[in-house]
Amino acid sequence: APERRAMTKPISLTRYLIEEQHAGRINADLRLLIEVVARACKTISHAVGKGALGGVLGDAGTPGAASINVQGEAQKKLDVIANDVLMEANAWGGHLAGLASEEMDHSQPIPDAARRGNYLLLFDPLDGSSNIDVNVSVGTIFSVLRCPDGVTSPGDEHYLQPGTAQVCAGYTVYGPSTMLVLTVGNGTHAFTLDREIGSFVMTTRGMRIPEDTKEFAINASNQRHWEAPVQAWVADMLAGKDGPRGKDFNMRWVASMVADVHRILTRGGVFSYPLDAKCRDKGGKLRLMYEANPMAFLVEQAGGAASTGRQRMLEVQPTALHQRVPVFLGSRNEVATAIDYHRRHD
Ligand code: AHG
Ligand code: MN
Ligand code: MN
Ligand code: MN
Repeated sequence: APERRAMTKPISLTRYLIEEQHAGRINADLRLLIEVVARACKTISHAVGKGALGGVLGDAGTPGAASINVQGEAQKKLDVIANDVLMEANAWGGHLAGLASEEMDHSQPIPDAARRGNYLLLFDPLDGSSNIDVNVSVGTIFSVLRCPDGVTSPGDEHYLQPGTAQVCAGYTVYGPSTMLVLTVGNGTHAFTLDREIGSFVMTTRGMRIPEDTKEFAINASNQRHWEAPVQAWVADMLAGKDGPRGKDFNMRWVASMVADVHRILTRGGVFSYPLDAKCRDKGGKLRLMYEANPMAFLVEQAGGAASTGRQRMLEVQPTALHQRVPVFLGSRNEVATAIDYHRRHD
């Protein structure tokens, strides 16, 4: 009889999380929290996939009375739907002391002890909202912090922890395939949703970002508003192989951070949303707590780097829940070059 060879079937998200728990890197509460978030992302993926057939497109609110979020943005229906899915999924999860969302003015504590745990969940329920109605990939970004000891009803101030305090970060990208990318501090791993059995299956263990790149992602329409270091850094890349960088560069800009970061985790690149005249007075465009910090954790765990241009992203001490920051992240040597331009041109 043929010798039985160990099946090399890919493992499920559930098995990966149990492995991490057996290795002592996460506890059962965090494992179950991640499973709840993954299940909520499956529900969001289903809604996103329906598109025009699901009544999920277009703006929230009523014509002439758009619903504006705390960011000052007109909410899309899917912003609200995704937020509600995550809120409902976690209301009875039993692992959280509180939640915070791009779409909610303030964080919300879990009201009663029966349903409370020790983690704080922060999320961007639908990232890339401007792409929903044009059928381009969007995503969900999440970050997990510990609730400070002795705090049973956390307020916004209890979420203001630097990115190094994250115990978990991840995103789900709703693209041609739905993929969950996750770190619990032991590498960055990718799971693809198998829709037939409804589970996330590990398709890449240990994503690695190449240290150098020839591909940059930036919204070039803001060029005239950039600070001097960014003007010089981008101009030199555009100068190509005959310029100071000695190589030609390609450019990509999806305008869904999740899609741009996923490309960089998959094949390298550098992503930037620098200060510009439109967002300078707000400190930047992207939000620290539920966009920049979770992405920085994932990128560093994949051998990349993430910076404000002047400081390691994960070491920024937050001062406000919806605080914004300039973002440079991706291939570590290119991020170092961007930082060097800031040193030389500041
Ligand atoms: P969100 O849809 O959650 O508000 O985030 C949108 C962000 C980010 O996903 C993307 O990188 C950036 O906005 C795009 O900004 P521009 O539209 O100015 O290019
Ligand atoms: Mn938004
Ligand atoms: Mn976003
Ligand atoms: Mn969003």
